[in-house]
Amino acid sequence: MQIVVTGGGGFIGRRLIAALLARDSLTGPDGRSQPIDRVIAFDKAVPSGTMPEDPRLMAVAGDIADPAALARLIGADTGLVFHLAAIVSGEAEANFDLGMAVNVDGTRALLEACRRLATPPRLVFASSVAVFGGGMPRVIRDDSALTPLTSYGTQKAIGEHLVNDYSRKGFLDGRALRLPTIVVRPGKPNKAASSFASGIIREPLTGQDCRCPVAPDSTMWILSPRRVVEAFLRAAELPGEAFGDSRSLTLPGLSATVAEMVEALRAVGGDAAVARIRFEPDPLIQRIVSGWPGWFEPERAVALGFAADPDIVSIVRAFAEDELGGAAAPAT
Ligand SMILES: NC(=O)c1ccc[n+]([C@@H]2O[C@H](COP(=O)([O-])OP(=O)(O)OC[C@H]3O[C@@H](n4cnc5c(N)ncnc54)[C@H](O)[C@@H]3O)[C@@H](O)[C@H]2O)c1
Repeated sequence: MQIVVTGGGGFIGRRLIAALLARDSLTGPDGRSQPIDRVIAFDKAVPSGTMPEDPRLMAVAGDIADPAALARLIGADTGLVFHLAAIVSGEAEANFDLGMAVNVDGTRALLEACRRLATPPRLVFASSVAVFGGGMPRVIRDDSALTPLTSYGTQKAIGEHLVNDYSRKGFLDGRALRLPTIVVRPGKPNKAASSFASGIIREPLTGQDCRCPVAPDSTMWILSPRRVVEAFLRAAELPGEAFGDSRSLTLPGLSATVAEMVEALRAVGGDAAVARIRFEPDPLIQRIVSGWPGWFEPERAVALGFAADPDIVSIVRAFAEDELGGAAAPAT
């Protein structure tokens, strides 16, 4: 089977590709194990640096909104597509046209390329809990209405509806995962409004000062990179019928206030790490984050075997293990 990962050079895409290449096979639509013959990492530019050395991996550069590039990318032997390429929340809010072109037009173009195959491929779409917002119930349930309050959330909601309708029509066998905020993201801050949630852990643990733009009681729904990769693989292996009438699933996560995240940082990095955080409110980020729901009951996903991390400290420890060789920076 050939597997395509769009956004394959990104934070989650790289980890997903490493997890795919660590395996020989995946369960296919017929319920049987199918060998992973090729994994294509598709991104704006050919991903460089830490991609695994594996003859099954091929990197392809192109624009997700370019139908000609997608026609070349999605070949007859494509059995599975993970669609992660996107303009993230802060940038999609700042640049409406770019967000629409990549997140809506690009998604539709990809679905159309899949539709042209004789055998409908499986497709796993990275949606977001940002499809919810505004005057929400305290707890978001599986039947809560999509009420996005940002352009990004709106674009993800459109993507979900398209994945559902293309699946209903039998053009492909899709599933959409609403991702919590994934922490801890390594490297530099990105243009997501939630970028600080990783920054307040990552920077102090690597010996740098950081600024937190939201109040300590701000609440987020969070999940680790390890768990989100497991979720993508699980979603790919489930039979389409398991999803019932809706191909969209909110992933389990942890409801965490910024203050609780800071305490988890203290448990791993000590008081010196916590002292590196400076609270400096940014009204725009605070408004976006306050519009996101902080508590969910994702019963369908739990029943299908998707799982959250056990606690926030485990998430911080996993970052130290996976990205820092197990050790936080010494206090200075
Ligand atoms: N990380 C999170 O907390 C989070 C939360 C909710 C949803 N998501 C979704 O999960 C997916 C992956 O997130 P991530 O954190 O890895 O993001 P990321 O920004 O690290 O990766 C996205 C990738 O998409 C690529 N891309 C952007 N425009 C493109 C284009 N026109 N053509 C081809 N590639 C393009 C980028 O170069 C980047 O490598 C995204 O769809 C994102 O919206 C992420």
